[in-house]
Amino acid sequence: MGKKENMPIGMFDSGVGGLTVLKALHERMPCEDIIYLGDTARLPYGTKSPQTVSRYAVQCAAELVNRGIKLLVVACNTASAVALDALRNAYPDIPVIGVVEPGAHAACKASRNHAVAVIATESTIAGGAYQRAIHSISPDTRIIGHPCSLFVALAEEGWTDGHVPEAVARQYLEPIFNLATGAKTPVIPDTLVLGCTHFPLLVPAIKNVIDPATVIVDSAATTAEAVHGELTRLNFKRAENGYGKTRYLTTDDAARFARMGTRFLGTALAEHEVELVDL
Ligand code: DGL
Repeated sequence: MGKKENMPIGMFDSGVGGLTVLKALHERMPCEDIIYLGDTARLPYGTKSPQTVSRYAVQCAAELVNRGIKLLVVACNTASAVALDALRNAYPDIPVIGVVEPGAHAACKASRNHAVAVIATESTIAGGAYQRAIHSISPDTRIIGHPCSLFVALAEEGWTDGHVPEAVARQYLEPIFNLATGAKTPVIPDTLVLGCTHFPLLVPAIKNVIDPATVIVDSAATTAEAVHGELTRLNFKRAENGYGKTRYLTTDDAARFARMGTRFLGTALAEHEVELVDL
């Protein structure tokens, strides 16, 4: 492989959710080559133990590192919450960027009343990664965390609008905002963090349920910014001319990945553009 700056950025998620981060990365750094891996065969990660998610994450990283990458983006909150240390230990020469910290920064910047609701997978909420990340930036912020595991299945299924996703959103979100109102010092969160890369697809359903003034943040744009900052700092940025190439890898059913990927990316992705890999 040639000079570092010409190598691709590697990214992975349990499925197609991380494509929301890929899209933001493309917009921020259109010249960069990217290899994206969706571990669809083993999705969901969000209901699995931290040990299992860490093992899967290191296997995903190995596939990408073996193909030659200059930086690794963990485009999955669940894996970012539990596997960053394992990944950095396994690949000390590769800079690793997760999505939780950028998401926490975005939330703190957005919240005016220092009350933030975080929705994510069961594992991300139970591990408290967002709570820690937000408190390390803004110790006084009140955080209500709530798992919304079904959103992952709905997003992967492409079932993102209509009365079913909206009913699920209502079931998950109303108690969060009501609970806040019923608290001793009632402070309703003015910010909702989408702590799972699958959730941006559910935004229309979510918006129909919550107060329209609530700011919805996800970590895609801030993660892209963090990647840009790190590549600049390391002098690994590709020369800014032309468009970079993106390669897609999946661990199961390339046709399904292409179909769902088209939905997440908002541009057509063909089956022949997706390579099936076995980790
Ligand atoms: N997209 C992943 C995340 O950001 C997890 C989805 C799952 O596999 O449960 O947490």
